[in-house]
Amino acid sequence: MKTIKILSFVGLVTFIFFSFSLIVDQEGWIVPDEYKTMENPTDKADKEGMAIGKSLYNKHCKSCHGKEGFGDGPKADEQEGELGDFSTAEFQKQTDGELFYKTTFGRDDMPKYTKKIPNDEDRWLVVNYMRTLKE
Ligand code: HEC
Repeated sequence: MKTIKILSFVGLVTFIFFSFSLIVDQEGWIVPDEYKTMENPTDKADKEGMAIGKSLYNKHCKSCHGKEGFGDGPKADEQEGELGDFSTAEFQKQTDGELFYKTTFGRDDMPKYTKKIPNDEDRWLVVNYMRTLKE
């Protein structure tokens, strides 16, 4: 009798763990292939462009993602979901197109920027600025 109880407990734990990992998988961002491979039309060496990217970042993104992209802005605590840490290699290994997609369309608490930053080129400049936050 005891064995059955233990076995069903182990089964239950396995089941919960398994369904949880399925949910976590589904929570990953789905970035369409056309965005993943999209070419960044801007020049990262252009100082004026970088200054624009920086000021847009400070105006629109810093409040949640923090000055250095650590995910520690004043509004960070109110957010659902992983803000990510822009300084990490894991974050930086994404393509420019992936960052552009996430910045453009958002998801859940991450706002979309099609209206607040309506110009595509400006959003690419923000992507360029996020590249400078790597450690
Ligand atoms: C109101 C708070 C808020 C603001 C403002 C905000 N974000 Fe986010 N951002 C989030 C949240 C929350 C997530 C996680 C969303 C999720 O995983 O569902 C996120 C996720 C991201 C990601 C994906 C992180 C990863 O690990 O891949 C990127 C890129 C991003 N934001 C860029 C930006 C940029 C660029 C701006 C400014 C133009 C910005 N965000 C403004 C809340 C915000």
